[in-house]
Amino acid sequence: MKDRPALRMMLDAVADGRLTSGKTLIDSTSGNTGVAYALFGAALGYSVELMMPSNVTKARKDIIQAFGAKITYSDPMEGSDGAIRLAHKMVEENADHYFYPNQYANPSNPRAHYLGTGREILDALGDRITHFVTGLGTTGTMMGTSRRLKEHTRPIRCIAAQPADALHGLEGLKHLPSSIIPQIYDDAIPDETMWIGTKDGWNMSDRLAKEEGLHVGHSSGANVFAALKIAEKLHKEQGGGCVVTIICDRGDRYFAPMKWEKRYTW
Ligand SMILES: Cc1ncc(COP(=O)(O)O)c(C=O)c1O
Repeated sequence: MKDRPALRMMLDAVADGRLTSGKTLIDSTSGNTGVAYALFGAALGYSVELMMPSNVTKARKDIIQAFGAKITYSDPMEGSDGAIRLAHKMVEENADHYFYPNQYANPSNPRAHYLGTGREILDALGDRITHFVTGLGTTGTMMGTSRRLKEHTRPIRCIAAQPADALHGLEGLKHLPSSIIPQIYDDAIPDETMWIGTKDGWNMSDRLAKEEGLHVGHSSGANVFAALKIAEKLHKEQGGGCVVTIICDRGDRYFAPMKWEKRYTW
C-alpha cells in the first residue's frame, strides 16, 4: 500500500527538480514507506536516510538496511511524532543536502491513491461498491482513495478507522486526537470515524491467517475488523452492501519479532 505513494513522491520530485542525483532522500516512517523508499532509492540510484521509532519491528529494520538505506532512531515513547520531529530537525540543519518528501504534507502521497488505489477499486468493482473503510496513518490512503471514489456517479460512503486509544499497538495507524494532524488530512472527507481497539486488530490478523490463509499486519486486521462491523450492520439494516477495505502489508514484517508483544503491553 505504501509503495504507490513512495514512488509517486519520488517521481514527482524528479520531474520538478526537487530530487536530483547529489541529494539524499530523508523522511520519517514507521516502516513500510521506508521499505518502499529504500527499494526505489536502490533501483533509481538515490541515497535514503530514514528516521523511525526504535521499537519498529526488527524485520522491517533488516529489510530497509538490506536495500542499503541508513536508519536513525527516535525515542519509541514519542511514537511516529518523535520520528517526524527528528526528520524536521535534520532537514533544518542541512537543508541543501536533503530531499524531504514529508509524506504527511506531500500532495503526491494522496495523489498516488487518487490515481492508483481509488481507480483500481472502481475498475474492479464499479457500481457494486457501497462503502470504503481504511485506517489513518499519514491519511494519504483515505484522502486520495476517497476523493476518487466520491467522484463516482453513485454515492460511496467513506469511513476512517482510528485506534481507540492514544497508546496502541496498531502499527502504521494514528490516533489523531492525540497526534500531530497530517497537513494532507481534510476532515471533510471521511463520512464517519470508527474507533478500533488494538486487541480487535490483532485478533483479526490472527483470524485472517488461520481462516483465510492471509498472513497480514495489524493495521490490516483493524481494517478488516472495521469492514466486518460495517457489513454486519448493513446486513441487519438493509440486507447487504459491498464494503471495500485495504490489506496494507504482509504479516512477515511483524511475525516473529512481535510475538512477545501479544500481551498488549503498549
Ligand atoms: C502498516 C500500515 N498500515 C496503515 C498505514 C496508514 O496508511 P496512510 O499513511 O496512507 O494513512 C501505514 C502507513 O504508513 C502503514 O505502514
